[in-house]
Amino acid sequence: MKVLVVGGGGREHALVWKIRQSSMVKEVYCAPGNGGISQQAQCVDIPATDIGGITKFAVENKIDLAVVAPDDPLALGAVDKLEEKGIRAFGPSKAAAAIEGSKVFAKDLMKKYGIPTAPYRVFDNFVDAREYITTCCSFPVVIKADGLALGKGVIIAKDKGEAVEALDNMMVKKIFNQAGQRVVIEQFITGPEVSLLAFTDGETVLPMVTSQDHKRAYDNDEGPNTGGMGAFSPSPYYSDAVHERVMDEIVHPTIKAMKQEGRPFKGVLYFGLMLTEEGPKVLEYNARFGDPEAQVVIPRLKNDLVDIFIKTIEGRLDEVELEWDSRSAACIVLASGGYPKAYQKGYEISGLDDINHSDCMVFHAGTLYKDGKYYTNGGRVLGITALGESLKGAVEKAYENVKRISFKDMHFRRDIGCK
Ligand code: GLY
Repeated sequence: MKVLVVGGGGREHALVWKIRQSSMVKEVYCAPGNGGISQQAQCVDIPATDIGGITKFAVENKIDLAVVAPDDPLALGAVDKLEEKGIRAFGPSKAAAAIEGSKVFAKDLMKKYGIPTAPYRVFDNFVDAREYITTCCSFPVVIKADGLALGKGVIIAKDKGEAVEALDNMMVKKIFNQAGQRVVIEQFITGPEVSLLAFTDGETVLPMVTSQDHKRAYDNDEGPNTGGMGAFSPSPYYSDAVHERVMDEIVHPTIKAMKQEGRPFKGVLYFGLMLTEEGPKVLEYNARFGDPEAQVVIPRLKNDLVDIFIKTIEGRLDEVELEWDSRSAACIVLASGGYPKAYQKGYEISGLDDINHSDCMVFHAGTLYKDGKYYTNGGRVLGITALGESLKGAVEKAYENVKRISFKDMHFRRDIGCK
């Protein structure tokens, strides 16, 4: 088979790495890919959001399977367009990807079907939203832009001032363009966070092992939100009893709700959960593998991922039984100094040849490969994933390898998986 992976970050590198292990696969392409991916797949210089370009490439190159990994092309209908042209594609349709693409849709879906989530209100004009903030609401409060905002659209406001500033940024200054035209104002809830990803063909649901990411830029969960500074798997908070509740109260009801709404979900559905004192609640859905969660979950998967993708597309997921490496995994993200704000690119990366590859993988996120050398080319640069008999062992092994790598202004958290 010829497989095309759409996207170009650490998640896509983990996908390419795993897809290459399938005996069914002859050639792997990645659009646009990155420096590390270019050593394992043929990178094609087409942005992930250029749906016309991706589809044309897939048709002209007789791609047997396209895997659409990031949120934007899914929300733009990449899977629908590929399928229209006869290309087998993994990922949800545009209608189903709305579960991530519109926070209002997701919250209304949960309300309609009784899926536990924090109470909320929706506003489509600044004056009413500000009025609610200044008169009715308690703090902290969560403010979410309705649409996709590069992972930056969720603000936890400590007080009225921060809340009104967030509303002003989203609804008046339109820093997220159309994505902030409508907002969700949601009660702040607390508890351990867990990410549960599941394969589903719209009927059968196969939950994966759990994971947790670290969204803040600095140690002790301080600093601005990022795309994710590291992750580990499994979550120590996720007991069998919690799993049973999550499946009964959240996972199965969500899949049924999407079917009932005429938007059957096929692909990977990501449940961002909070384990509150009242029980598990949904913080957010993603219509895809999370990043960096994919970098700790995929290395633990023993099955042939391409087989799972095909059976998901064909509605035969009931034939699959997932098998997992019982070891833990930890991923440390190495980022450019300054990320998630302004940062420089183009610094040479050294030490990649010194990595001890036994149970350690280096997934490239923002790198460029030129004349035998790698250079930084993004905010998140590398993800160093290690497997270990315990979470502590995995974390230690990952950090041992991190020590071997350097580039100018390299920044990483020193407390991934340490809580
Ligand atoms: N790590 C969360 C995400 O992929 O959006």
